[in-house]
Amino acid sequence: MHLYTIRNIHGLEAQLTNFGATLISLKTLDRHGKLADILLGYDDVAGYEHGTYYLGGSIGRYGNRIAMGKFNLNGTTYHLATNNGANHLHGGVRGYNKVVWEAKQLSGHAVEFRYTSKDGEEGYPGEVAIKIVYTLNDHNELRIDYSVDAAPGKDTVINLTNHSYFNLTANPQNTILDHVLMLKASRFTPVDSGLIPTGELRAVKGTPLDFTQATAIGARIGADDEQLKLGKGYDHNFVIDRTLVTTGQQSLVMAAKVYEPTSGRVLEVETTEPGIQFYSGNFLDGAEKGKDGQVYNFRSAFCLETQHFPDSPNHPEFPSTTLKGGGHYASTTVYRFSVR
Ligand code: BGC
Repeated sequence: MHLYTIRNIHGLEAQLTNFGATLISLKTLDRHGKLADILLGYDDVAGYEHGTYYLGGSIGRYGNRIAMGKFNLNGTTYHLATNNGANHLHGGVRGYNKVVWEAKQLSGHAVEFRYTSKDGEEGYPGEVAIKIVYTLNDHNELRIDYSVDAAPGKDTVINLTNHSYFNLTANPQNTILDHVLMLKASRFTPVDSGLIPTGELRAVKGTPLDFTQATAIGARIGADDEQLKLGKGYDHNFVIDRTLVTTGQQSLVMAAKVYEPTSGRVLEVETTEPGIQFYSGNFLDGAEKGKDGQVYNFRSAFCLETQHFPDSPNHPEFPSTTLKGGGHYASTTVYRFSVR
């Protein structure tokens, strides 16, 4: 495992590793100008090899769930690894967060990772060549550019994301319940008991999933709501307010904004993707040793995973995740840091 460090002129610093093209740490400023690490992670490679939380990892070939690990493409049914009950989650038993990537430091600001995923890997059809570039610019933005070239001949599905867990207090012994969240999403994809979308795009209005006005994560998390019960909290894909196109890349739009009142840290998320999974760390259970021997407890961090909708290969009505043989896919997400 190799470590790569990128910095900007304001002192922000990100550490990455070629194991899983993983974001290990991210130091950002609080309102007093003090830098601290706001990401969950492990102290050594063994942590990343054995960890089950996907901390900071690059997720693929398909981020999020595919029902029963099964989908049909061009008349063929493909069977994927089922690693989340009956379903497929985050690329399977050995997803992209568990493989070694080729890495190249492009500059003091940027690192590039490449991985060729073979035809049949974790059950997916077709070979794809993936490139992920992380850039930390002087506008305090960590930008992640994904690009994928599919080998000619076979179509596949693709849905890449990053699985960083944030705690903007920089102390994961605090829960994230007082973080104030805004999501630019007036709809979400409700799920069944396996956290698989039913296919409906449901309005958030009048539900505890309405974050169109900035609201503390903990304000309604215990509400008597079927969707919150199914997710054991928030674990839902939100439909970013934008004009949905069925194929092709879109422009970057604002998807989410989080404010942490004690440190003053603000995180904004922009993406070209149609969806964002807001996960309130409900499966963090204190079972794994993280940085400095700490354990990560229930709701000690949140994820904002930009993505296409879960189980899209089984929902032709969702924006398509099909990548044609010989085709190209690109996606960008920006995490911007400031203080208030
Ligand atoms: C999912 C959770 C899952 C977690 C794994 C999230 O992206 O939405 O359901 O438990 O990843 O750490």
